[in-house]
Amino acid sequence: MSDGAPYLLLQISDTHLGANWEDVDPDESVLRAVEAILALDDRPDALLVSGDLTQNGTPEEYARLRELLAPLDLEPHVLPGNHDLRGPLREAFGLPGENEEPASHVVDLGPLRLVCLDSIVPGAEGGALDEGRIEWLDAALAEEPRKATVLAMHHPPLRSEMPGFERIALAAAGREALAGVLDRHPQVLRIVAGHVHRTIVAELAGRAVVTVPSTYLQAALDFSTERITMAPDPPGFAIHAFHDGTLATHIQPIAPPR
Ligand SMILES: [Fe+2]
Ligand SMILES: [Fe+2]
Repeated sequence: MSDGAPYLLLQISDTHLGANWEDVDPDESVLRAVEAILALDDRPDALLVSGDLTQNGTPEEYARLRELLAPLDLEPHVLPGNHDLRGPLREAFGLPGENEEPASHVVDLGPLRLVCLDSIVPGAEGGALDEGRIEWLDAALAEEPRKATVLAMHHPPLRSEMPGFERIALAAAGREALAGVLDRHPQVLRIVAGHVHRTIVAELAGRAVVTVPSTYLQAALDFSTERITMAPDPPGFAIHAFHDGTLATHIQPIAPPR
């Protein structure tokens, strides 16, 4: 980061390597995202991948994602989504903990602190924050109360008002407990997430909650049906630009190939 330039945290989400939805190849989608990121005038300083990295959680899928992301030349900071398996994810990305312990961890990015909070419930599509994870987060945030922090999770702590996603959302109790923790930690500037395969902005405890598109397929905007359907909307990624204590989140669509 040069003087006067913002620190750029790149976020991609829901790469779903190994999926075959609607005959779309997720590897191709990641390749296209990487190409679009490399075509930017500015190089991101750090990379977050906010869950559902793979469809099946196999070591091969994680290895392939590492390979596909290698041209970015950034260490991927990752957290599990409901399609991931903690064991192989840990192995591939050197995350702390063992077996079915939550894979939550903190990364010091220099200007920013990135807190990755594991929101998954193994075997379920929806997410939850139990007492243990809430206590871990409270303690992790208390370690650096004055350092600008981004909180990342897979399941966004918001009500999307879309019945399809409310079915597989973060449980309300976890969202409420999280709001209580955030009340004590004003250094958390933003909560960023994936899972919903589209952009949503909401707020929790006075902080913006932002979800980013998938690099793969996007979910249709639908406030009336329980079924999640895919829409031909463009994939995308986010750049969180941090400068002088403030954070601006840009959602950048990825243009289809010409
Ligand atoms: Fe997903
Ligand atoms: Fe998900």
